[in-house]
Amino acid sequence: MARTDRTTTEPVDPELQVVLGIESSCDETAAAVVVGPTTVRSSVVSSQIAMHAPFGGVVPEIAGRAHVDRIIPVVTQAMVEAGVDGRDVDAVAATAGPGLIGSLLVGVAAAKAFALVWDVPYVGVNHLEAHLCAPSLDEPDVGPPMVALLVSGGHTLVVHVQDHGRYEVLGGTIDDAAGEAFDKVARFLGLGYPGGPAIDLLAVQGDPEAIRFPRAMLHEGYDLSFSGLKTAVIRHVRAHPDVDTADVAASFQAAVVDVLVTKLMRAARDVGATTVALGGGVAANSLLRERFLDAAVAEGMRSSVPSRAMCTDNAAMVAAAGWWQLQAEGPTSLSGGADPNLRLA
Ligand code: KG4
Ligand code: ZN
Repeated sequence: MARTDRTTTEPVDPELQVVLGIESSCDETAAAVVVGPTTVRSSVVSSQIAMHAPFGGVVPEIAGRAHVDRIIPVVTQAMVEAGVDGRDVDAVAATAGPGLIGSLLVGVAAAKAFALVWDVPYVGVNHLEAHLCAPSLDEPDVGPPMVALLVSGGHTLVVHVQDHGRYEVLGGTIDDAAGEAFDKVARFLGLGYPGGPAIDLLAVQGDPEAIRFPRAMLHEGYDLSFSGLKTAVIRHVRAHPDVDTADVAASFQAAVVDVLVTKLMRAARDVGATTVALGGGVAANSLLRERFLDAAVAEGMRSSVPSRAMCTDNAAMVAAAGWWQLQAEGPTSLSGGADPNLRLA
């Protein structure tokens, strides 16, 4: 939908619509200004990692309070860096789920307030859909149809993205998410929180073939399972207390990546996809990025890996998803709430 500009009566060209995005679903308070579906003018992320690290994971109560403290400064910084003020903004998008309810409500309430004051549409966005928009922020001509692997702290999904807003979930984890497995194993190994980056870093010094950890469900379908792998790591370390932690990290990471890449490429082949993409925080993993690119080349498929900043939670992807949703469905009602269990399809 094209809003009528407030200073002229001309409708704003959708490609020039300025969307303020707000993300607060977990432990990052983020705001971004994006023009049209892909031009990022600013993207500010205020991480709460230091606040949660002593607890070994995200503490919902602390997260919600920190979002309240940070949301206005973060939005202000994003607007200053983009060189825009409220009169330039054509829509405000915020993550409305899935995520921590107390955290989601902070971003949603802020977005509605800005939309109301500036008299522009509000758009409540699905966080998973936002992750799927991230590849096109770095490479604007990458987009549906494609098969994407969405791997984050809370989700692991193999998705056939038929078009913007049209998704078929082909497979997913039946227990832990990939990022959750990284975080739990890192915690067990005493590597701190968040575990993914710590394991990624340590694995460089280890031998990925030192320990042959299980690859659950490798040869069948598109579903995944990581809880057996986590248990295997714990058992191995307890049975071999002198084992080199770097070898454990490298062997664990190799097992996770092996399964992720195998499932993604199987799904892509089966639906006849010509483009494959990665999204979500775990897509920042060095080995996954390398193996994914190699596999796509081997299959003759086009591949897209977002920059690390666009893989982990940010608001530019929320603004982009908001733009697409606005074109397809129009604004979200200001009475719309937040849904901690929102699904993709
Ligand atoms: O998408 P995201 O920032 O937040 C959620 O929506 O969950 O993903 C966070 C997850 C955490 O589990 C973190 O350990 C993992 O992404 N992660 C990584 C890496 N960087 C972040 N996992 C493996 N390797 C990394 N380099
Ligand atoms: Zn996320």
